[in-house]
Amino acid sequence: MSYNDLWIRDLGARYGVALLAILAIVFWMASRWPKMRESWYRDYLIGFEVECSDLAAFHKRRLFEPLHCLISADETLRDVGRIRILEIGVKTGENIAFYPDDCHLVGVDLNKRLADHLFHDENAWRFRHIFVEQTIVGDGSRLGQTIPSGSVDAVVTTRTLCSVESPAAVLREIRRVLVQGGTYFFMEHTPDPRQGTLIRWLQMFWSRSGIWPSLYGGCRPDFDPIPSIEMAGFEQVTWRRAALHGDTSRPHHLALTRHHIIGTAIR
Ligand SMILES: C[S@@+](CC[C@H](N)C(=O)[O-])C[C@H]1O[C@@H](n2cnc3c(N)ncnc32)[C@H](O)[C@@H]1O
Repeated sequence: MSYNDLWIRDLGARYGVALLAILAIVFWMASRWPKMRESWYRDYLIGFEVECSDLAAFHKRRLFEPLHCLISADETLRDVGRIRILEIGVKTGENIAFYPDDCHLVGVDLNKRLADHLFHDENAWRFRHIFVEQTIVGDGSRLGQTIPSGSVDAVVTTRTLCSVESPAAVLREIRRVLVQGGTYFFMEHTPDPRQGTLIRWLQMFWSRSGIWPSLYGGCRPDFDPIPSIEMAGFEQVTWRRAALHGDTSRPHHLALTRHHIIGTAIR
């Protein structure tokens, strides 16, 4: 036996059991990874994202204020003083508290379980002031089969464009489904506006390594929604910056998604 063979045999005898245990753990984790990731993402959506929505309440109230005096282009709705709103990425309906009484909501989300909250959850009582016209489990960039062109008075997205596969395609759909003169309301997180900061570097690292998107439903903290919204062909785009501050269960997560643009785009 050569020296190398002896060395390997020695190593196997000494660490074999430990190696086998590590391999077994790695295989076990790999087989359970999709389930673990799903439950991790779900906890994040119903935990941290809800906390963020609470921190943003002041900004959201201000952003959605014009919804309360919007007049519908749909004659039937207009006659009864109602409007139709489409929200893409509606999740657990955190924005609904800011919507006007009796408005008609079309909610779109990729996530089947979460969209269910609007109808069946013990929390569904929170949505009693509105009428949920339709929930669509699907991709906001492909609404051609379900939502006719020029049929909604307002569209809302909050902290969603960062996660969609094609922001340009979603924005095209938003513009298509809005009535002429209808408004797109958005509150989307942006990279740290200051160049060269550690946060900016971390936003790039986590996004480009693919680690953050794989853990958080495709979210990219380095995605800048401003050029996409400004080039989507809306008549008039106005926005301002705001940063969220406060206590959350994931301060590191807030640090990477604290900065937002809040605004409207008119079709
Ligand atoms: C970070 S959450 C934000 C939820 C909510 N708008 C808020 O501010 O609390 C992003 C949501 O967008 C949904 N989403 C991601 N990509 C989507 C797509 N292409 N079409 C529709 N919904 C999408 C996710 O399932 C998730 O519920």
